[in-house]
Amino acid sequence: MSSEKNMEDLNLPGVISIDDAYGRFETDDDGDRDASSSFSVASSAYTFRMEHGRRYHDYKTGSPFPHDEVSDENDYLLHELCLVLLDDRYYLAPIDTSSLNCVVDVGTGLGLWAEGVAERFPESQVVGIDLTPHARSIFPNCSYMLSDASEEWVLDDPTMKFDLAHIRSLFGSVPDWAALYKNCFDNMNPGGWIEHLEIEINAQTDDAEVPADSHIKYLSEFAHTHMTVASGRDFGISFGMKKLIEEAGFVDVQEKRLKVPLGPWASDPKLKEVGRLCERFYKTGLQGWLMHVCTRSLGWTSEQVNEACAKTFQELNNRQQHWYYLAVIVIGRKP
Ligand SMILES: C[S@@+](CC[C@H](N)C(=O)[O-])C[C@H]1O[C@@H](n2cnc3c(N)ncnc32)[C@H](O)[C@@H]1O
Repeated sequence: MSSEKNMEDLNLPGVISIDDAYGRFETDDDGDRDASSSFSVASSAYTFRMEHGRRYHDYKTGSPFPHDEVSDENDYLLHELCLVLLDDRYYLAPIDTSSLNCVVDVGTGLGLWAEGVAERFPESQVVGIDLTPHARSIFPNCSYMLSDASEEWVLDDPTMKFDLAHIRSLFGSVPDWAALYKNCFDNMNPGGWIEHLEIEINAQTDDAEVPADSHIKYLSEFAHTHMTVASGRDFGISFGMKKLIEEAGFVDVQEKRLKVPLGPWASDPKLKEVGRLCERFYKTGLQGWLMHVCTRSLGWTSEQVNEACAKTFQELNNRQQHWYYLAVIVIGRKP
């Protein structure tokens, strides 16, 4: 065959035919997928499905929460909220930074915490683990691993042991917390620390009177009870963290509870800012926290979910009540 002919073969046709499937997301679970095949596991990490206008990823059992632009904004707000709340500290564990060689961020999401730590501690190696794939980090000392953190961790460097394992805002996502904490323990150097922060979702108030029909209160109790049962994932893990972390073998386990106002109602400037961020966190998060579990397992329509959100935001906008959540932080050391 002449080289001229070969060149001709490379020519593109006049009109490129279009793949019929282009631009379509999967709309339903693929029940036939063989989860044991490495091909299907790897490819499912890049498969997303649309439900009621939100995008969900499909890796392993998936997550009951969306993974899209709105959830990204929600993650940014939580990150900012935590930094203001903790006076710009990335963790509270009493670690000598000179021994902070390897750090893992479990359920890293957008990697906001992981990248922040990598930037602050350029001598440390930071690994972010998540069920969703992550683009390469801009920091050479930060990398990402696509994995279910409750399953065995297969690290690029199998000799790597961590000095700090950080977990933040995984409520309602993890069916087996004991397995996840055990992995943190097993992959840690003696003397290393675990730190887990969750915003406890049961809304509280110190107001003398609470309206009996408060939607804010109703939804937070509903999540604790019905959504936990329906999803098989604990929406109220915060108060159970300490015991589970102790059971995983950690010692010197301490718990701290910090008030997080819902809305900018506090007079203290720091808490006002925390409250402002919390309100935006709540408003960008609520629909996504409810939609999948309520429509798939509790018989709600998407309209009912949106209506519940609208009523709740209206109540919040009325600025009559003074709700707050608790940020629960548990730290523990591997002996
Ligand atoms: C609300 S985001 C929080 C992200 C991050 N921790 C932060 O505070 O910015 C929860 C993340 O946990 C991930 N996730 C949930 N269950 C997981 C699991 N079993 N293993 C790894 N990642 C998980 C989700 O994919 C999602 O990206």
